[in-house]
Amino acid sequence: MSARATGSCDRADVADSIRRSTMVTFVGTQKEFSDALKSLIELDYDAIEAYEEAIHRVDGQTYKEVLKEFTQDHKRHVHELSNLLLSKGVEVPKGPSIKQLLTKGKVVIATLISDKLILTAMRSNEDDTNTAYERMNSRTDIWPEAQSLILSGLADERKHKSWINEQLQRL
Ligand SMILES: [Fe+2]
Ligand SMILES: [Fe+2]
Repeated sequence: MSARATGSCDRADVADSIRRSTMVTFVGTQKEFSDALKSLIELDYDAIEAYEEAIHRVDGQTYKEVLKEFTQDHKRHVHELSNLLLSKGVEVPKGPSIKQLLTKGKVVIATLISDKLILTAMRSNEDDTNTAYERMNSRTDIWPEAQSLILSGLADERKHKSWINEQLQRL
């Protein structure tokens, strides 16, 4: 592997984080609706992994329980959106993209040492999912069969974000 000097690690991490934070802007912008849907599924897979890491690491029992519920929502999104693509004969992603689509993916979550930091990271992930679902919802080429799925997914993502926000306000 590279012989990067230790001192440059932080800078590299920051650059990586900036790069990632701009990447989500691509989810939902693909030219073809089916490609945008595929990238949305990959984003949901990323979210599942980040949630699983967060559940593993948080101390608060209530946080664990609610984060588990939210993970189930993301799993349902993957399932429903994948079924929709399959019904159209489109191949579906089987897991997260090799490009991390979330600002605070599982690797970042694994380094965090307090519930507040974990929830803060998960909030920025939910900013990403909200942006992506909003973008999908406002596409003019949205498939009629996709409309209610995207809309109910967006409602879930908004619920996730606002719950996390409420918890952070109390911390
Ligand atoms: Fe989702
Ligand atoms: Fe979410």
